[in-house]
Amino acid sequence: MIVLGIETSCDETAAAVVTDDGGARILSNVVLSQLDEHRPYGGVVPEIAARAHVEAIDGIVAEAMTEANMSWDSLDGVAATGGPGLIGGVMVGVMTAKALAYARDLPFVAVNHLEAHALTVRLSGDEAGGEIAFPYLLLLVSGGHCQILSVEGVSQYHRLGTTIDDALGEAFDKTAKMMGLGYPGGPAVERWARNGNPARFDLPRPMKGRPGCDFSFSGLKTKVRQTIEGLPPGELQDGDMADLCASFQQAAGDALVDRCGNAIDMFLDDHPGGGPLVVAGGVAANVALRSQLETLADDKGLGFAAPPIELCTDNGAMVAWAGLEHLRLGHTDNLNFKPRPRWPLDPDAPKAAFAGVKA
Ligand code: KG4
Ligand code: ZN
Repeated sequence: MIVLGIETSCDETAAAVVTDDGGARILSNVVLSQLDEHRPYGGVVPEIAARAHVEAIDGIVAEAMTEANMSWDSLDGVAATGGPGLIGGVMVGVMTAKALAYARDLPFVAVNHLEAHALTVRLSGDEAGGEIAFPYLLLLVSGGHCQILSVEGVSQYHRLGTTIDDALGEAFDKTAKMMGLGYPGGPAVERWARNGNPARFDLPRPMKGRPGCDFSFSGLKTKVRQTIEGLPPGELQDGDMADLCASFQQAAGDALVDRCGNAIDMFLDDHPGGGPLVVAGGVAANVALRSQLETLADDKGLGFAAPPIELCTDNGAMVAWAGLEHLRLGHTDNLNFKPRPRWPLDPDAPKAAFAGVKA
């Protein structure tokens, strides 16, 4: 099967072609980041994002098809992120995919953006190139989400824990903003942290030691602000910046390890011999956090897998792949599909307490 995927739910306009013929493979993966448009505002401005998607989408899709050396007739379907995300952007991708599907008489699949992150590892495989089979345990950490789920199959998720306030990507972004590091914060914090002392500042490990595997990051963010206020006024010194980034990243990693430790125990109770622990979403691009989680998984006797760094942040390949997984099972969507600003992976999980959490 060969599928075109379109991603427009946040600040990347992306399109890709993937196949499972002779094994899962990416035939093209074109990502246009809107960073320059949003940077002056220190975050993603939904209206600007939607307009930028409209301007870019046709060219990005054409580029993905050309790079893959594909004719429209070779495709088996067109997939687009149908939510959750910034609705103006989601509408652009969904309408484009519907129009292509209608014009070329191809099946259309509306993909849950979170499921696209969740299944990416089945496209990329494990380190030895092996296939990741269900069930596995997923830590999904992005700009809008921080959840732990047991992935039972396509469309089958059981949420074990979620954040009760901020998502971890959001905490990275806000920490960076407080230090004047600009947007997006995650990669900048990671860069500065490399030269910093993670033990210099005493920051909290929220929820550590508590039962269950819910997360909380707002207290950590507040402590970062108080720490900055406690430093000499004026611009932060490079050494302070590096130490604070390192201390923040270490605290976040320790919190993840504590929560995921409990989640692994819960997961293995239900799925003896199941695994691996998979980390996905934009924050999964963080090498230090990946390595802390890999050590935890090793200690617990569970395998570990993560998509390659470039497939952690938003891209079209993950959407195309999720679409392909659905098409293989005969799932398609009607052309009257309505974009969904909220779309939880586990609809039976209790609603998250914090209004900013999208699922
Ligand atoms: O998955 P994603 O591209 O978009 C959403 O679906 O939210 O994730 C974006 C988030 C941002 O908060 C960004 O700061 C964070 O992922 N991020 C990182 C890193 N790269 C991206 N966080 C920590 N370390 C990184 N290297
Ligand atoms: Zn994402």
